[in-house]
Amino acid sequence: MNQQVQAMYDTMRAKLEKVVPDVELRIKAEIAVEINALKVERNAVILGHNYMEPALFYSIPDFVGDSLDLSRKAAQTDKDVIVFCGVKFMAETAKILNPSKTVLLPSDKAGCSLAAAITADDVRALKALFPGVPVVTYVNTYADVKAESDICCTSSNAKAVVESLNTDKVIFLPDEYLGGNIARDLGWNIIFPYIKLTAESAENAENLNKNLRELSGLGGKTMIGWKGRCEVHEKFTVNDIRTVRAQFPEVAVLSHPECSPDVTAASDFSGSTNAMIKYVKESTALQYLVLTECAMGDNIAAANPEKDMLRLCMVRCPHMNTITMEDTLAALKFNRYEIDVPEEIRVRAARSVQRMIEIG
Ligand code: 13P
Ligand code: SF4
Repeated sequence: MNQQVQAMYDTMRAKLEKVVPDVELRIKAEIAVEINALKVERNAVILGHNYMEPALFYSIPDFVGDSLDLSRKAAQTDKDVIVFCGVKFMAETAKILNPSKTVLLPSDKAGCSLAAAITADDVRALKALFPGVPVVTYVNTYADVKAESDICCTSSNAKAVVESLNTDKVIFLPDEYLGGNIARDLGWNIIFPYIKLTAESAENAENLNKNLRELSGLGGKTMIGWKGRCEVHEKFTVNDIRTVRAQFPEVAVLSHPECSPDVTAASDFSGSTNAMIKYVKESTALQYLVLTECAMGDNIAAANPEKDMLRLCMVRCPHMNTITMEDTLAALKFNRYEIDVPEEIRVRAARSVQRMIEIG
């Protein structure tokens, strides 16, 4: 091992000795040193989402965090190249905010089931059905959907964004469960119009009318939702929580707001990935169940060695998991995979993202 690799290995080992076996750390330390040298050569910044695997998370990113944090970092950087260790919608957001910079996503397979759940045509159809109702779009969407929206949100600011609009109706897209959790917390109703444009038009129209009638008959504030779901968080159930609590009675259960409202209600705490990390750090419980992508449990365990971290690792994000250190090295070496957003879409999407960032 040369001196630089040894220093990197020592740093990684100090954090990860209880989480990652030594043999892996030695190999990853070598790759990390290569990545960091290329990072300097290319004047690049690496942003790493909280779901990155532990060896990556604790070695190469200049900044780690949740979606909101990382979009703020992307907005502030003065580097020429942004390498996004996350998924495509996150890298696209960085490009939307930095049109003149090169934005790289190390895998071309890092999608997201929520982003895939809605199209710009769907949003235009909803706006035609509910004219004048503001559209709040979760950042887990692609640029053309953001471009049709009034404002974006993440899981950490969604409530503040909805409240900032001072209105009694919003269209909230595309996460059924995040919408349901926010509606419940704010005391709003939520309805789900069915307007898939492609088929079954008679049935769609009937469903739609039913919903519209329901909407006009409701008092109070109403959220018009969409039935997109995160393929990871939708799998956690109240029964999972009950079973774990029966086995570990002292456990504190944390869930991401992309979990169903039933699951968040049965948890001790629900919040964005950053909020869950903070909760574990600051709370006095000794054992936690973190209902989110499993790698984050490893990262929290590494930062809190005195605490016991349980996680349900049979559910993994197939998209986040395509981002590896090997591919991050290749991204910097071969300038891949470069994110491109057509300027006409980017300008409109930027308004929604900037508006969100200004709210905080
Ligand atoms: P956060 O904004 O909480 O980091 O969530 C992003 C995400 O994709 C969760 O699945
Ligand atoms: Fe998308 Fe869910 Fe994966 Fe997050 S965990 S990137 S919401 S599929």
